[in-house]
Amino acid sequence: MKADNRLHFGVSILETSLPWLLENHSPLRDCLLTLRHQSEQGLQRSNQRGWHSQDDLFNSDDPLIQQLSQQVFEVGTQLIRHAEKFPADEKVLLSSMWANINDFGAWNAPHAHLPCEWSGVVYIDVNENPQSAGGGIHDGDILFFDPITVGAPYRPATTVSYTPKIGSMYVFPSYLMHMVAPHFEEKPRISVAFNFRIARNIEAIAR
Ligand SMILES: [Fe+2]
Repeated sequence: MKADNRLHFGVSILETSLPWLLENHSPLRDCLLTLRHQSEQGLQRSNQRGWHSQDDLFNSDDPLIQQLSQQVFEVGTQLIRHAEKFPADEKVLLSSMWANINDFGAWNAPHAHLPCEWSGVVYIDVNENPQSAGGGIHDGDILFFDPITVGAPYRPATTVSYTPKIGSMYVFPSYLMHMVAPHFEEKPRISVAFNFRIARNIEAIAR
């Protein structure tokens, strides 16, 4: 597996792509749209106007979502072990996973995912060539915030933005503040986000 480790602000933002997801993104998109249609109401988190599924998407009976969960778990675990310099048998847990469906004008307010250790997102259906409103930020971009938000002349620009591609996956430390810029297309922007826990941290607390 090939992955990039982008060290903006000295914080790891890991990026890779999932070939399986790229091949299966259309049926997955349909599956998640159906799930939204069948669900009474989503959850209210950072989503503004968008739909946020339940947090345990990995418990779905749908074989496609099961496969997606397995991919996220396997690839995420590898990335985290590598970034943390953990041994190959370090126990990493996929603790939550949910779908985000952002319709026209929807966005996600700035937030972090504490107390989890690592979080991330995979993209099921996005516009890969969105418009830019200026300042280098495109509609539907994900923005990460420097934890030390002083900017110039002491630090690089306070935020960095990425334009997602279908099938790509980002994994980053859960303390890292981020948000999703609004997009203005009729076609919904669909992603699946997730949190990981390092098992030994939870076990230490439990005792
Ligand atoms: Fe998030």
